Amino acid sequence: MLDVSDLSVSYGTIRAVRGISFTVGKGELVSLLGANGAGKSSTLKCIAGALKASGGLITLGGKDITSASPEQVVRAGLATVPETRDVFPDLTVGENLMLGAYIHRRDQAGNRQNLERLHTLFPRLAERSHQPAGTLSGGEQQMLVIARALMSRPTVLLLDEPSLGLAPAIVERIFEMIETLKKSGLTILLVEQNVNQALAVADRAYVMRLGMVVTSGTPDEIRATSDLSAHYLGG
Ligand SMILES: Nc1ncnc2c1ncn2[C@@H]1O[C@H](COP(=O)(O)OP(=O)(O)OP(=O)(O)O)[C@@H](O)[C@H]1O
Ligand SMILES: [Mg+2]
Repeated sequence: MLDVSDLSVSYGTIRAVRGISFTVGKGELVSLLGANGAGKSSTLKCIAGALKASGGLITLGGKDITSASPEQVVRAGLATVPETRDVFPDLTVGENLMLGAYIHRRDQAGNRQNLERLHTLFPRLAERSHQPAGTLSGGEQQMLVIARALMSRPTVLLLDEPSLGLAPAIVERIFEMIETLKKSGLTILLVEQNVNQALAVADRAYVMRLGMVVTSGTPDEIRATSDLSAHYLGG
């Protein structure tokens, strides 16, 4: 479904991603792991069209999206939840969600239907629909940005560290929700530093270090790799 081949991303002379290759199959949940600065977010931003690749190829369902704009990528069926977890604080929860449906703005009936489905999945957002998004807790804001991404009706969802900085009970809920999304057939690429939890939900994983993929395999294979020490994964 998502095929990344020999991808490189640079910031001026800094080579953040150095020729990485990985795939995410239809309906698969793949984790991209690695310590701070490994190049995980740069990879996601490049797939999302927010950063230009300096080399390599990205295809989505066989279609070349390497040089696509962020809107073209969303229209191709790929939505991204960035690590910044940005909501529009003065807009209501409902208004924030509708912004995610921008590409379907002429299909109000479809948007209402999708919103109902998401309200079932995220009951807290339904309860707080008329409240300014800035009044939500950190965990609720994370739920909101995920739900907003789903309003574009993606086939592939990229999540950048959804558990970062959240209390353990909330992290648990986020991972349960990710599993529910996977069961619904969504294809997911999950960037995490929370290695144990990411491996618990993943079908396969890749480990990045200094802009390169150093290990890949099933969660069991990754766990069995003896050199997956703290300096790779940050503990
Ligand atoms: N805007 C930028 N300008 C210059 N260098 C950057 C920029 N963003 C990231 N980098 C550098 O690129 C490298 C990869 O960063 P990236 O944010 O992709 O890593 P990451 O794996 O997502 O890390 P983290 O776990 O901290 O989120 C790092 O060396 C980082 O300092
Ligand atoms: Mg990052």
